Amino acid sequence: MVSSHTTSLLGFFVLFNLFLGNLQDVASSKIPSGDPTVVPPFHVSEKDLLKFMQLGDNISFHVPALYVFGDSTVDNGNNNFLVSQAKANYPPYGVDFDTGIPTGRYTNGRNEADFIAQMVGLPFPPPYLGLSDSKNKTIRTGVNYGSGGCGVLSTGKSFLGTCLPFYKQIHYFETTLNNLKSEFNDDKAFAYYLSKSLIFIDIGNVDVSNDYNDPATNISSKYTVRQYARLVSKEFSKSLKKLYRLGARKFLVNNLGAMGCIPAQVNGQKQNTLCVEETNDRAVIYNDLLSRMLPKLQSRLAGSKFVLGDAYKVLMDIVAFPTQYGISNTRNSCCIGINGNSTLPCAPNMKSCNNSNQHAFFDSFHQSEAVHFLITKRCSKESSICSPINLVDLLKA
Ligand SMILES: *[C@@H]1O[C@H](CO)[C@@H](O)[C@H](O)[C@H]1NC(C)=O
Ligand SMILES: *[C@@H]1O[C@H](CO)[C@@H](O)[C@H](O)[C@H]1NC(C)=O
Ligand SMILES: *[C@@H]1O[C@H](CO)[C@@H](O)[C@H](O)[C@H]1NC(C)=O
Ligand SMILES: *[C@@H]1O[C@H](CO)[C@@H](O)[C@H](O)[C@H]1NC(C)=O
Ligand SMILES: *[C@@H]1O[C@H](CO)[C@@H](O)[C@H](O)[C@H]1NC(C)=O
Repeated sequence: MVSSHTTSLLGFFVLFNLFLGNLQDVASSKIPSGDPTVVPPFHVSEKDLLKFMQLGDNISFHVPALYVFGDSTVDNGNNNFLVSQAKANYPPYGVDFDTGIPTGRYTNGRNEADFIAQMVGLPFPPPYLGLSDSKNKTIRTGVNYGSGGCGVLSTGKSFLGTCLPFYKQIHYFETTLNNLKSEFNDDKAFAYYLSKSLIFIDIGNVDVSNDYNDPATNISSKYTVRQYARLVSKEFSKSLKKLYRLGARKFLVNNLGAMGCIPAQVNGQKQNTLCVEETNDRAVIYNDLLSRMLPKLQSRLAGSKFVLGDAYKVLMDIVAFPTQYGISNTRNSCCIGINGNSTLPCAPNMKSCNNSNQHAFFDSFHQSEAVHFLITKRCSKESSICSPINLVDLLKA
């Protein structure tokens, strides 16, 4: 990864200065000067955020809803309602979320779904399992079905309790749509609404990066990595077709992150390298299948747009060139783990580090808000990160 990175030092300083220049335009917010950490203030208007992201003064999106599916990368509270060990609803999780509220997000602040919502002027999509009866019937701006510990095939049961696997998340989406249909005048208006809504999916990390060689699953004794990756991707493809049949048209699908670089892996295996290659290699095998599957789906499903988000590359770039992205620590979690080190989830109610957004990872498994923002930002403009079109073009489509 390192050798293929071509950004020159000079290019970096030019970009950096442009960025600082732009920050001064965000008049309503306080950003420490000279701090290259790029996270926008929590309360930021759509207009100020687009400016902050240097997307120009004259963009407006017409995205009526954001529907979110996935694992702990995007779960914002569904697991709070389940019997599960995989929860993030206690301090210090959420230390940078508004005034410091743990919500169930597995990070210090907002996640990528939240930033996308802010970009298009929508409220953060609430967790499905927390909806009131009336909201469940009428909410039009989108819902988050993400659930920590689950995956495409993984039901998380082996080690964490219950969670919502992808098929269940899709089933719940179906109930949302059935409830919502009657709120629209006719089928055509409803179909139009759905076709303009964004479906954001970040799932598969648990299947491939975690479960595959978890002794509790025995998967690795039955399948090679490639066989299992194919099995997961086949099931995923079926599920995407199902979402299409339900009316979804605009998809942003993140690939698997570089899970070999999380502190739990690097510190747990006492590696002297930046990342555990064997774990990353598994993600790469799956990501390769995914990058060939999405264009196929787009060509077969009329009117669909599938954009692949290269979360893997964004994280690898950060690990290889942290300071370029305003990150000073890629090795240790910002919070103190349950066992006193960087290999397990945050210990409850312990003070976390005071520069969370200079850490790549907030806990030993999950990226910080800064990384969530960097993914969103790079996806918005770079068609090598989000392809074949960037997020802005997808949102405008
Ligand atoms: C802003 O965009 C609108 C619609 O795309 C266009 O009509 C208008 O001329 C643009 N304004 C500026 C100042 O570029
Ligand atoms: C939402 O409504 C559907 C159908 O009316 C129901 O089956 C489901 O349990 C409700 N979900 C929540 C979270 O209230
Ligand atoms: C895994 O395989 C071993 C040996 O074949 C068996 O004893 C064990 O029950 C299996 N575990 C699961 C979860 O299938
Ligand atoms: C982290 O703590 C666990 C449990 O106390 C211990 O087994 C492990 O060796 C520690 N790891 C490091 C890198 O200190
Ligand atoms: C942040 O924490 C470090 C040690 O963890 C400490 O040395 C430093 O003074 C703290 N900075 C602030 C602003 O509290």
